[in-house]
Amino acid sequence: MYSIEELIPIVNKAIDGHYNNRSPKRLYEPISYAMSAGGKRIRPILCLMACNVFSDDIYKALEPAIGLETFHNFTLLHDDIMDHADVRRNQPTVHKKWDENTAILSGDAMMIEAYEYFLNLPTEALRHSLKVFNQTAREVCEGQQFDMDFESISSVKIEDYLEMIRLKTAVLLAASLKIGSIIGGATSNDANLMYQFGIHMGMAFQLQDDYLDTFGDESTFGKKIGGDIVENKKTFLQISATEKNEQLMQELMQRTYKNNQEKISVITQTYRDLSIDKAAQNAILDEYKRAYEVLNSISVAENNQKELLKFLDQLKQRVF
Ligand code: IPE
Ligand code: IPE
Ligand code: MG
Ligand code: MG
Ligand code: MG
Repeated sequence: MYSIEELIPIVNKAIDGHYNNRSPKRLYEPISYAMSAGGKRIRPILCLMACNVFSDDIYKALEPAIGLETFHNFTLLHDDIMDHADVRRNQPTVHKKWDENTAILSGDAMMIEAYEYFLNLPTEALRHSLKVFNQTAREVCEGQQFDMDFESISSVKIEDYLEMIRLKTAVLLAASLKIGSIIGGATSNDANLMYQFGIHMGMAFQLQDDYLDTFGDESTFGKKIGGDIVENKKTFLQISATEKNEQLMQELMQRTYKNNQEKISVITQTYRDLSIDKAAQNAILDEYKRAYEVLNSISVAENNQKELLKFLDQLKQRVF
């Protein structure tokens, strides 16, 4: 099996230079900027690894893998406008470096480009992959709408939050695994198990993203710490704190602060006082455990799952 270390340069090489010399520059330069700016490449790696679980030839999944990464980066351009985020991967976001219209239109072009990357698949795999991809893309929009709706709702239930992160984040990781599996020739039962594995991994991943947004280190995380608090996002942290002390949290959310920094400090300290940081860490580990259980139930040689297990371990320890 290909290792993570071997897959990353394969992915980067397939991305590099793809948008060079295209016109108009103002449309394509922001795409190159976004695509080359040091993301973790989780989705294409999952797609290639899943293909590799069932087949020795990973190259037949390379273009769709890049399509999935392109789609992911498109969602980030629009997400950063919606979340008023100025920094990503330690660099100015596209709507800050250029402007919002540029980020909208370059994002649109990226989504179209993402589909283009599927076209060379054999007919059956193409139909099946596109069906999964379309369903996923629709669900990401649904999740993003729930995420925004929740900003102005004061008591969001934990089940509703979990469904929101399943939609906005987990389904794309799951779809990357499922599409890779389909291209690799998995049975539909195994492809569906890989999808379930991805859902748990993706839920853990977004729980961790929410945790790091408050408790991470800005220079390694690459995004501004406290962005979710400023935007009144309903995260595992916010909802658990509200469950523990509703009156206090309602007051803190409605209070007028001198500036964003004060709001971030006060709310972060409250999370610590209520031991919400520990609760979040436990919730993350629980989801990773579920992911391990599903992966173990897939009927392929143990050796073929080795790299996926390693990948899961690396994600579990991530600080960025
Ligand atoms: C960021 O995704 C958006 C979330 C779903 C949390 P990643 O953390 O995978 O972003 P990059 O591509 O590695 O920067
Ligand atoms: C991202 O959620 C989900 C999508 C982009 C679809 P976040 O808004 O938490 O992601 P970051 O923190 O900006 O990367
Ligand atoms: Mg968002
Ligand atoms: Mg965001
Ligand atoms: Mg986030």
